[in-house]
Amino acid sequence: MNAATPQVRQHYAQAGYAGRLLTALRAAGKDLDRLTRDDLAPFEEFHIGGRDATRELAQLAGLHANLHVLDLGSGIGGPARTLAAEFGCRVTGLDLVDEYVEAASELTRRAGLADRASFQPGDACALPFPAAHFDAVVSEHMTMNIEDKATLFVGVRRVLRVGGVYALYEICAGTGSVEYPVPWAATPTISFLRPPDELRRLIENAGFAARDWNDVTAQATQRFGVLASLVGGWHGSPPALGPHLVMGHDYAEKIGNLLRNLQQGSVRVVMAAFEPR
Ligand SMILES: C[S@@+](CC[C@H](N)C(=O)[O-])C[C@H]1O[C@@H](n2cnc3c(N)ncnc32)[C@H](O)[C@@H]1O
Repeated sequence: MNAATPQVRQHYAQAGYAGRLLTALRAAGKDLDRLTRDDLAPFEEFHIGGRDATRELAQLAGLHANLHVLDLGSGIGGPARTLAAEFGCRVTGLDLVDEYVEAASELTRRAGLADRASFQPGDACALPFPAAHFDAVVSEHMTMNIEDKATLFVGVRRVLRVGGVYALYEICAGTGSVEYPVPWAATPTISFLRPPDELRRLIENAGFAARDWNDVTAQATQRFGVLASLVGGWHGSPPALGPHLVMGHDYAEKIGNLLRNLQQGSVRVVMAAFEPR
């Protein structure tokens, strides 16, 4: 376990979280016994670009029906449900935070996708799976909470079969200082950003070769600007369903800071696919 892991858990954990999401969905008039993916779309994917970005990552990775995919840092399960529903994958989600695992399982069951996506608690740096267990591993906006990235990537390589793919969509360090709070960290103590070329080298050193490596900062900035404008229009009174459900009460400040960090170049965003060497 990384020294900061308890603080990372504390940053995301919210007691009674699944129940609160269901209460918000009910308040928005949704049928809890028959949730649709559209019902969940306003909040279920906790990364820049939401569902569109997950689709792009899946396409970059070449994901298709029946592949067994490990989603590292699966949050409340939005990306896993997208991979299951739209690409036909069988997804195992792993997340550090018990409340997220519980919410991911509950929402997935109520959306009728439990036969294709399941979730379990665990630390991405100590993967509880046999070697060569998965056809693909994905991570979206997760590595910035992990200090010991070398251990993380060695573990990813171990659980991936030969001919598989590791696809990631991650935030990296840019130049200049980062303004906090941001969605993944209230303070720098749990934020471990590395410059893009360093992140790439760490992955390669774990036994991977880059198949695609794209700096998508400009597109991410544009997309996040659209979200920030939307949120700004709420003037502190968000609708029942929105990003505040995953980011907490200071969602507007976190979104504003991340947009400024993107615009000022103090963070960068990469989307990449690697194959085992
Ligand atoms: C910004 S959220 C992204 C969630 C999800 N990937 C998505 O895009 O919707 C980061 C997630 O990574 C998880 N996480 C952070 N450190 C982790 C670790 N060491 N092992 C497993 N999950 C971790 C957090 O609990 C959180 O759910």
